[in-house]
Amino acid sequence: MAEKNGKKEWGRKTLAARGASLFEPHTGAISTPIYQSSTFRHPGLYESTGFDYSRVTNPTRLELERTLALLEHGRFGLAFATGMGAISSIIKLYKPGDHIIVSEDLYGGTYRLFTEYYEKYGFRFSWVDTSDFSAVEAGIRPETKAIFVETPSNPMMKVTDIRRCAELIHQKGGDIIVDNTFLSPYFQNPLDFGADLITHSGTKYLAGHNDTLSGFIVHQRDDLEEPLRNAQKSEGAALSPFDAWLTLRGIKTLALRMRQCEDNALRIAQWLRRHQRVDQVFFTGFEDHPQYELSCSQSRGFGGMISFYVKSPQDVPVLLKNVSLILFAESLGGVESLITYPLVQTHSAIPESMRLSAGVNDRLLRLSVGIEDGDDLIADLDAAFRQCA
Ligand SMILES: Cc1ncc(COP(=O)(O)O)c(C=O)c1O
Repeated sequence: MAEKNGKKEWGRKTLAARGASLFEPHTGAISTPIYQSSTFRHPGLYESTGFDYSRVTNPTRLELERTLALLEHGRFGLAFATGMGAISSIIKLYKPGDHIIVSEDLYGGTYRLFTEYYEKYGFRFSWVDTSDFSAVEAGIRPETKAIFVETPSNPMMKVTDIRRCAELIHQKGGDIIVDNTFLSPYFQNPLDFGADLITHSGTKYLAGHNDTLSGFIVHQRDDLEEPLRNAQKSEGAALSPFDAWLTLRGIKTLALRMRQCEDNALRIAQWLRRHQRVDQVFFTGFEDHPQYELSCSQSRGFGGMISFYVKSPQDVPVLLKNVSLILFAESLGGVESLITYPLVQTHSAIPESMRLSAGVNDRLLRLSVGIEDGDDLIADLDAAFRQCA
């Protein structure tokens, strides 16, 4: 435990395990109670307990928001019903005519939200390989107000230099937004490198058990807090008390899960790389990954996500059918290992030409490595590969 300005600063494992408050002060409850109340009694006219209506604030959600803000080294945290709800509220900070540079390789649902909805309302987006800093620089326009990155990117595991992009956009008075879903605050804290806003699909590593949806924004700027709170309150995508509690409970084991996922991922990535039916493996933990040094300079780990190309597209349906421990399903970051086919699942909303230029083709599979025994996961993949002709 460190001390800063006379205040205790818990390490990230302690923070995750114990949350912002350590215990509930009124009753001493060690598990934050689920305040399943939509509304709260006012003590008198113009008086409030601090809680009026749960769309606006709820004690269970507040504990989660504070915990996430601390874990992300931010001052403010906002919890949403889903990751998409959080991203949508961030875009509300901008106005029609504003231009945002976006990683070309990112979750397909984010692409769909921007192109099918916000473009219709006059927002402008360009899709750039943000792991190539010169491409980001070249993409800046007079009306550019933000850079939105996923790093590592989904699914190609490209890494964007948060520090350099932050300096670039700050010179223009704009913001950098980082989707930190893949590494979680256990492995990466983008605010430390100049990011203005962090977003998460809390559905993934934070909640961690494939049992609930949630989303977050974390930041440390007074000028952003009021508009973001207003968007959360006005749009009604705030996280429910029960899902806030599930996410808080998931976060308690974040450190253990992230380590185990990463250990397994490292072994599986090496095993896949040696497999004769595999063409290429994308994992940021490989020392020959093009942005390995950058990863080491801005992250404390590599996470549990792996993408790989099989040599033949004919192997894809065979593998998906024959894995039995690893489940063919769309999501990531849970204790259970999942395999995803981005072409038809997570990235189906992205037009073919853009998808192919980002590398999402009919030979690409994505693995979210869970916390099971690594040997069992490898045996499962091995058995499935043996079914390929
Ligand atoms: C990187 C990333 N960001 C955001 C989202 C959206 O999150 P949610 O599904 O919780 O709305 C996802 C969903 O898969 C994701 O993978």
